[in-house]
Amino acid sequence: MTQDELKQAVARAAISYVVPGQIVGVGTGSTANFFIDELAKIKNTIPGAVASSEATAARLREHGIQVFDLNEIVSMPVYIDGADEIDASGAMIKGGGAALTREKIVASVAEKFVCIADGSKLVKVMGKFPLPVEVIPMAQNAVARQLNLLGGEARLRLKDGQPLLTDNGNIILDVHGLEISNPVALEALMNNIVGIVTVGLFAKKGADVCLLGMAEGVKTLTF
Ligand code: A5P
Repeated sequence: MTQDELKQAVARAAISYVVPGQIVGVGTGSTANFFIDELAKIKNTIPGAVASSEATAARLREHGIQVFDLNEIVSMPVYIDGADEIDASGAMIKGGGAALTREKIVASVAEKFVCIADGSKLVKVMGKFPLPVEVIPMAQNAVARQLNLLGGEARLRLKDGQPLLTDNGNIILDVHGLEISNPVALEALMNNIVGIVTVGLFAKKGADVCLLGMAEGVKTLTF
């Protein structure tokens, strides 16, 4: 099976977590895109979705799925999204698609986080995938110095030779070379660095369920 076929398989499996009659939170990225395509097939069973990025909102609308503003929602049963890495405790690195801030916000309002990922995303120790951090532009160098003190190397993410700007108008620093043995502690530490908007570590509130796409089928991990 190709990586895309594994992603499609978990996207299909995630449909069983969508609660009929309830709004669903939808993540960002290639796996989330496959999920949106599957969601379109059952769109008449739900009022709509909350999107974690402009790209996801656009794809939902293209499929005729109503997009709700998070401010209209008090709670939702489930948020479904991919990950860049996930460990055995359900902690994740996210933000490869630069949508980490809205992803973390939407996930915070959901009762359950269902992670959908191909099997390559499951790791013993996170950090091989550079940790994305969303930063206020004027704080770029100040934050980079602090991040480097933690043992990583912060690099500004570029797009077409220019600093990539998030949906919120901020920059992304990708921290290379970290070995994240205590993700909850590192997330808390980084959250205290002035100028950081969001750390792409989803550890204090990680996944509740992970649907992992493997050659032998979809494996369900619960945390
Ligand atoms: C988006 O900002 C990310 O958090 C994605 O959820 C993550 O990068 C996984 O993306 P893929 O599904 O494309 O691997």
